[in-house]
Parts: sequence; C-alpha cells; structure tokens
Amino acid sequence: MSIRTLASLGDLRGKRVIVRCDLNVPLKDGQITDDGRIRASLPTLNTLIHAGARVIIVSHLGRPDGEPDARYSLEPVAQRLCELLGKPVVFAHDTVGSAAEDAVNGLEDGGVALLENLRFNAPETSKEADQRQAFAAKLARFGDAFVSDGFGVVHRKQASVFELAEALPSAAGLLIEQELGVLERLTVSPEKPYTVVLGGSKVSDKLSVIDALLPKVDTLLVGGGMLFTFLYAQGHAVASSLLEADQVDTVKGYLARAEELGVDLVLPTDIVVASKFGADAEHVVARADAIEDTPFGASGLGLDIGPESAAAFAERIRSSKTVFWNGPMGVFELAPFAAGTRAVAQALTELDGFGVVGGGDSAAAVRALGFADDQFGHISTGGGASLEFLEGKRLPGLEVLGWQ
Ligand code: 3PG
Ligand code: MG
Repeated sequence: MSIRTLASLGDLRGKRVIVRCDLNVPLKDGQITDDGRIRASLPTLNTLIHAGARVIIVSHLGRPDGEPDARYSLEPVAQRLCELLGKPVVFAHDTVGSAAEDAVNGLEDGGVALLENLRFNAPETSKEADQRQAFAAKLARFGDAFVSDGFGVVHRKQASVFELAEALPSAAGLLIEQELGVLERLTVSPEKPYTVVLGGSKVSDKLSVIDALLPKVDTLLVGGGMLFTFLYAQGHAVASSLLEADQVDTVKGYLARAEELGVDLVLPTDIVVASKFGADAEHVVARADAIEDTPFGASGLGLDIGPESAAAFAERIRSSKTVFWNGPMGVFELAPFAAGTRAVAQALTELDGFGVVGGGDSAAAVRALGFADDQFGHISTGGGASLEFLEGKRLPGLEVLGWQ
C-alpha cells in the first residue's frame, strides 16, 4: 500500500504550503479540553517549518452552518498551536478574504499562519462539486503546494480535503502516514488473537464495521448504549435503556453469523442500572438478563457495563495480541458510570501486544480519565475515518493522494 508523501513535493524552502489539519478539538467555555489533535499535527508542521516553507494551516472546527459563528472560531486553537510550536502563529479572521490574504502575504520562510474555520464557508461542505471546486480554487491561490494531514476528515469529500488536493501538487503529511501504518497493521494479517471492542450509543453507526470485522476477528466485545439492542435481540427486557428497535433483526443476524464463523461475540453479564440520567442518580448492579428487576423497574436505565463484565472484558483484552477499541462502554462523562470504560482503557495499557484506541469519543475518554497517550500502542485522531477504513470503504481524501 502506498500514498504520495512529503518527499514527492521536493524542496519546499520559500514555498507557500497549505496544510489541511484536523484541529477539530473539543471546547468548553472557549477552553480546549483535549488538545490531542493539535499535538498530533506537530510533526508535519515542524518538518515544514524546518524545511523553510511558509506554512498556511487550514482546518474545520465543529459543524457551523456555512457562515461565521464565534462559537466555532479557531482562534483558541491558534493560541495553543503557538505554545506547542514555540513560535508565533498569525491568525486570520477569515478563510479566503482579505485577512487571509494579508496573513499569507506577510509570511516569512518558516513562518506559520492559521486561517479561520473552513466551514464558515458553505461551499467547503457543498454537495455540488463545482461549488467545492470554486472554493478550493480560492484557497489554492494561497499555496504552491498542498499537504493533507487531517486524518480525521479523509472520509469526507469536502473542498479542502478533495478538490484542493487536485488543484495543487499534493501529498500526505506524517500524521496520515502514521495512521495508515496502524490501520494496515490492523487489516493486513493482524497478530492473533485479534479482539475488537465496540461501544458508543448507537448500533446503527456500527453496522458496516461489524459486518466487515466479523470474518476477521477472534473476539468482539460489545458495550455502550448499543449493547442493549443485542440483549433485547437475545430476548431480554432492557427497561428504559437505549434500544434501537428497528435494528433488532439485524443484530440477531450478527449473533447468528458470529456463531457460524466461530467468533466469540461477548456481551456483558451485568449492567449498572440507574434511576435516571444524571451523576446524582441512584444506581445498582443488575444481571444483564434481569435489568427490569431493580427498584427502578421498567424506568431503569442501563448506563454502564457492570464490574463482572468489566473484569471479563479486561481479561479478554489482556490476553489478545491485537486490539482495536471504538466507543465508550458507558456514560464515562458521569463519574458513577465511568468504571467500564476505565477498565477497558486500563486493560489496553497492560496488553502485551498492539492496542489501538480508535479516535473520537474513545480518545477523549482515555484522556479525560487521566491516561497518557504513550500508554497505548496508538490513539487514532479519526473515529469515523478509521471505522470507514476498517469497513473497507474507499476514502476520498486518501484516493486523491494516490492511495492504493
Ligand atoms: C470528527 O471529529 O469526526 C472529524 O473532525 C470530522 O468532523 P465531521 O464528522 O464533522 O466531518
Ligand atoms: Mg465525526
């Protein structure tokens, strides 16, 4: 497998290089709560700075409505970037307007500018190719070359991911290269036993990945809100826990297929059931086949896997050689329901093998729970992107860089 890399762009001294990063970090009250994606962008940025390029960074943040919206400004990111790079980062208050033009024109060799949120411009995410092309052309005026390094968005056919890569000499940055190396290790003869841990709220988000992974894995551990649709499919009542009734038949199919393929599809045997959704809710541990037999009856809510299940999942993870994990086991943001997610994360750090945390919520969860990045084999910066890769989909942001 191969992709165009930085070397293909030749000597970049004095060249204006546009870099598409995924600096879509979580913010709370204007403060960055997890700067993992900014840190992951540093190797490429430092390489370009040291090569004497004039570095113009573009990114999205959140999902604004195609027009400026202060809540989604990249300004706090510019400040953090400046601290992490140890050098000034000029922030432009627009993306393709006069502020951006001034910022780009003012750059010296090795200088860095960050342009305002790409998604403040409706054509960035337009369904119409000609609109995206026109926007990409406006961005392309600023650069002599384009480096695509926002791994978290390579599954999106958006102007700055796809059309911009067509408009300029383009190559993948170091983050994309690294993420692809990890995904190859998970897909091309992964070391066995291979365990995949899936959580998160909705089973409907995970259908294609379950389809694609069942024939490849030895064990599939299922937690998070999606587990209740599995329990229901096995004939158990789930009280008021999350249930996707329209997916029950599909899930029954997975249970049958796992058995045919000899895959151990493991569901929790106990559940933390709460009286309501909230950190101050009353809660008890119930058997997974008796979720309604708690003091909360039919109004009980399953919000985490129970301690017996957490221990069993941890044991399965520790005895594997390759593990991919996507999606929290419970509502980890609320302390009483974080233990399942913590146990899975802990086991991944103890594994004598290769453990990958698959982006998005799971990456935020491990950091929020106090784990350090270097305790894991890899923490991906792309949840959706890595899932789609594992599903075997062709990702536009990789195809356009000659990925094959
Ligand atoms: C993400 O956080 O999933 C990536 O930054 C992509 O963002 P999107 O899902 O809004 O396209
Ligand atoms: Mg997403």
